[in-house]
Amino acid sequence: MKKMSFKPGTMLNPVPVVMVSCGKGEEKNIITVAWTGIVNSDPPMTYVSVRKERHSHHLIKESGEFVINLCTEELAFATDYCGVKSGRDTDKFQQQGLTPGPAEKVECPVILQSPVNLECKVKEIREYGSHDMFVAEIVNVQADKELLDEKGRLRLDQAGLVCYNHGEYFGLKKQPLGRFGYSVMKPKTRRRLAGEKRKRTRRGKKQSRG
Ligand SMILES: Cc1cc2nc3c(=O)[nH]c(=O)nc-3n(C[C@H](O)[C@H](O)[C@H](O)COP(=O)(O)O)c2cc1C
Repeated sequence: MKKMSFKPGTMLNPVPVVMVSCGKGEEKNIITVAWTGIVNSDPPMTYVSVRKERHSHHLIKESGEFVINLCTEELAFATDYCGVKSGRDTDKFQQQGLTPGPAEKVECPVILQSPVNLECKVKEIREYGSHDMFVAEIVNVQADKELLDEKGRLRLDQAGLVCYNHGEYFGLKKQPLGRFGYSVMKPKTRRRLAGEKRKRTRRGKKQSRG
């Protein structure tokens, strides 16, 4: 591999892409955010980095709350729309047929069509040059019951989630390359997991035949 240097830039890829709902009542809004991630496990902490000029910036700053709504392939178009239109002059919920629903621990709405909603309370605002980073605690998570398997495990691999890679949206529906720790997995565990997977596939085929 022959390397060349680029000027320093935000070249980290792929990144998540999410719809962040904020505000409440008539003031509710959605902003698409790619500058987001997890910063701590316990307590669960996340961040969204938002430019001061975004309409959502003042909504998040004033309420100290937001909801991260994970994006699916079905929601990719709406996600893009919420990333190019401003809530100053557009009701993005209405324009994209997105349904606001109640959050449990914050006052701003969740987006009901999104399979996973992370309700967040801002703990700290760090001002950088272009963006302000809202560091927040995840105080509640809502997830679609349909994503639970028979053992009650959340199957996010079945959710059709989307990521953002160098300016393009990509679906993650393809087969995974491996699971966490697969590089060091014992052959016995590998065989057990393969068996479980075969069972699931058979069950899926039966269900689709009716
Ligand atoms: C894929 C994508 C990712 C984006 N990521 C961010 C981000 O991380 N932070 C940000 O401030 N704006 C981001 N934007 C731009 C805002 O979503 C956009 O300016 C939006 O219209 C702001 O809406 P608002 O004025 O209603 O808050 C992104 C846009 C797209 C399409």
